[in-house]
Amino acid sequence: MKVLVATEKPFAAVAVDGIREIIEDAGYEFELLEKYTSKAELLDAAATADGIIIRSDIIDKEVLDAAKNLKIVVRAGAGYDNVDLAEATAHGVCVENTPGQNSNAVAELVFGMAVMAARNMYNGTSGTELKDKTIGIHAFGQVGRNVARIAKGFGMEASALDPYCPDEVMTDAGVKPVHSVEELYRDNRYVSLHIPATAETKKSVGYDLITLMPKNGILINTARKEVIDEDGLARALEARPDIKYVADIKPDTADTLKERFGERVFFTPKKMGAQTAEANINAGLAAARQTVAFLRDGVNKFQVNK
Ligand code: 3PG
Repeated sequence: MKVLVATEKPFAAVAVDGIREIIEDAGYEFELLEKYTSKAELLDAAATADGIIIRSDIIDKEVLDAAKNLKIVVRAGAGYDNVDLAEATAHGVCVENTPGQNSNAVAELVFGMAVMAARNMYNGTSGTELKDKTIGIHAFGQVGRNVARIAKGFGMEASALDPYCPDEVMTDAGVKPVHSVEELYRDNRYVSLHIPATAETKKSVGYDLITLMPKNGILINTARKEVIDEDGLARALEARPDIKYVADIKPDTADTLKERFGERVFFTPKKMGAQTAEANINAGLAAARQTVAFLRDGVNKFQVNK
């Protein structure tokens, strides 16, 4: 049996070595397809794979049709909006993610970007501090919880909104639960987005929410570009010259936003949140172990298309 690691954005070499070891120790063949530039390369490598480990790589009907032996796809990371779950189910393919494995890396980047925005993109002018400021955590999953932990170290006051998380989980973490999205944006100078991209959340953050933010509000997006209504964002930045938007995902309208709003917006060229050696090792090795556990013993604890 063959396990393919298909990562357009490669893991750190040390993580690849660890994945290879787990796959080969289990007696499976290991194949690595990194930095591929065409879908044809992925289709070709997938054709003979029994398992595929991916990051934000797209697994759609075409890939699933081509991968005739495929039994499992493991997304080494949290969000699996890049996998067509309905098609995977129709093809009898198990899809898993590795929840929590890269969340500290993403949470640390939130504060890297928060400090950068607070210090005016390091442009030499006088900025502000995070201490005693409010931060609203939009979704209290694994990344949100790490954001809350780090926020405490900065001396920030944290609130969170998450209809899927009991209030006690937040209060136990020293975070104030809020129950309306309007309240979250109205009461927090910083808002950090951690919602997944789903039919319900796509374009859900736009003009109305962003303009509720207090003076000098900073919106940080290390989640997905799709959750932002980019027209609404542009209108909000126009109406509120005090607001900044910093994102770990280049928006579709990045060039226009940059041209119109200059240093008030910042985008990483490639998604960098989980791009650390530690996160690559944690998520990559977990993905390899889960792939082996499924192929060898049928373990499907982390299946997301049950
Ligand atoms: C995730 O959903 O785990 C993060 O967005 C990281 O994505 P990446 O593996 O493409 O960096």
